[in-house]
Amino acid sequence: MRSKNDHIAFTWLLTDRSTDKIAAYMSLIMDAIKLSFSEKELHNLNYPFKTIPAMKIAKLAVDNNFSQKYRGIGTFLIDSAERVAWACNNAYCAARFLTVDADIEHDEGVLAFYEKNGFIPNAELYNKSRKTISMRRDIYQ
Ligand SMILES: CC(C)(COP(=O)(O)OP(=O)(O)OC[C@H]1O[C@@H](n2cnc3c(N)ncnc32)[C@H](O)[C@@H]1OP(=O)(O)O)[C@@H](O)C(=O)NCCC(=O)NCCS
Repeated sequence: MRSKNDHIAFTWLLTDRSTDKIAAYMSLIMDAIKLSFSEKELHNLNYPFKTIPAMKIAKLAVDNNFSQKYRGIGTFLIDSAERVAWACNNAYCAARFLTVDADIEHDEGVLAFYEKNGFIPNAELYNKSRKTISMRRDIYQ
């Protein structure tokens, strides 16, 4: 609630109707990423600037109990973020990519989770300490 009131992050909660418990949450923020020439080519973005607008998944977590009870909650939330980005694009503000800093410090499998969901690593923001991997998903390809 504090970060929502400070306009730092907007958090979506997914609650389980039968128990009223929070099954998962996701925070969305605005973002921009720098892409190399070849990365831009990959997305057919023929623009002279490097910085491309995006929407970032700043937080994403699924309660273990619910990920076992219902499969695919994490994927559902990513698809929901994409729908939010489409709605913004259609009416308010442009964002070409969904971005995320995949937190591999605690679980390297998170990288595979995002790859399965269509994210690829960003070359420019590659973090040498490898605690996080900056990734993007083109929401129009
Ligand atoms: C990562 C997380 C959000 C995934 O949510 P989820 O609901 O379990 O994911 P889904 O069921 O949608 O998984 C989709 C696919 O990714 C795979 N996957 C999910 N989490 C994975 C992991 N940690 N390691 C390897 N593969 C994983 C699933 O097996 C599934 O593969 P399949 O389609 O071949 O069966 C959840 O495990 C979580 O909250 N982790 C702790 C917090 C965290 O690390 N958040 C991300 C920080 S950037």
